[in-house]
Amino acid sequence: GQSIAFHGSHQAGIATPVQDRLHFAAFDLSTDSKEDVATMLKAWAAAAAQMTEAKEVGGGATGAELAPPDDTGEAIGLPASRLTLTVGFGPSFFDKLKLPKPDGLKELPHFPADKLDPARSGGDICVQACADDPQVAVHAIRNLVRMGFGVASIRWSQLGFGKTSSTTPDAQTPRNLMGFKDGTDNIAATDEKKLDTHVWVGDEGPEWMRGGSYLVARRIRMHIETWDRTSLKEQEDIFGRTKREGAPYGGTREHDPVVLDKLPIDSHVRLAHPDSLSGATILRRGYSFTDGSDGLGRLDAGLFFLAYQRDLEKGFIPIQRALAAKDTLNEYIQHVGSGVFACPGGVSPGSFWGASLLA
Ligand code: HEM
Repeated sequence: GQSIAFHGSHQAGIATPVQDRLHFAAFDLSTDSKEDVATMLKAWAAAAAQMTEAKEVGGGATGAELAPPDDTGEAIGLPASRLTLTVGFGPSFFDKLKLPKPDGLKELPHFPADKLDPARSGGDICVQACADDPQVAVHAIRNLVRMGFGVASIRWSQLGFGKTSSTTPDAQTPRNLMGFKDGTDNIAATDEKKLDTHVWVGDEGPEWMRGGSYLVARRIRMHIETWDRTSLKEQEDIFGRTKREGAPYGGTREHDPVVLDKLPIDSHVRLAHPDSLSGATILRRGYSFTDGSDGLGRLDAGLFFLAYQRDLEKGFIPIQRALAAKDTLNEYIQHVGSGVFACPGGVSPGSFWGASLLA
């Protein structure tokens, strides 16, 4: 139930040990006024500071009888649940507001087999709400939506459960919906050297991006029913790791080193490993989703993949290029939604995300 500081040199929710639940929302601006957007972001940041401390927004959920309350109320009495709110700006944000785009932010290329639904892709602003209680995460997004009325509205959103990528290697690694441990070889939240090299933007970025990061979000549908008819041997060959233990081929324990030539040539882990890709590295922070069924007798389920990196060209883009071309996992998955966002550096008290950009 503890709270995670909202203010700091980096935004919380990136290196923060992954919470259990996600509510991710992408917003579109309905204005081209920088001033209106800055006013909204300032109000959002003040509300975020309150909500992450389990406080009600503004004057609270009760007060003046003749106006709608400042807070919608469904989180009253709930602990902070390690709520974090992480904000990013998509390429279209800069186009609409006629602001200079950071060099590092670009639309992702088309990858083979992408089947992206425009209604689940893009967005001018994203907010990633993570918490150990889904009600706390949903309350946070809902209150930002309410405050954004007239300036920004939700374009698409995604609920997630069962974190699929831990950043806490000492804890038990969570499993994705394919039943495999996910996040074994992820960047640890405590590995500051790796975070500085691969996740946080440095002097190469504009002032407001320093200490920030680029986020790629992909809604990846899993063909669960086909997967469930696949033999254990084939499932393990696809990743190059065993199912129960998560050990890499050639090893016996989950954290044994990955020796690339022991893994099947087109296996997911071999293709995605930094040594196969001149060091390309990302911080994974994805969640599982199950959004009912698709009307064709199949679950609409999969992985809502979230990856943070300092440089898209040394992170998601080369990794996904390699995976899209060869990964034997491709028979069982399809990328159906996509977004890319520049997440500014940390917010100081009284300020807001990208304040110097919007000044
Ligand atoms: C590793 C599953 C999509 C990048 C893994 C592992 C599993 C897994 C089980 C091994 C355990 C681990 O080290 O975490 C999946 C599933 C996906 C998916 C089920 C889709 C539904 C992606 C995508 C990317 C990616 C889209 C990036 C473009 C990686 C990387 C590793 C990894 C970098 C670690 C490789 C290493 O250093 O050994 N994934 N993954 N994965 N995956 Fe994925």
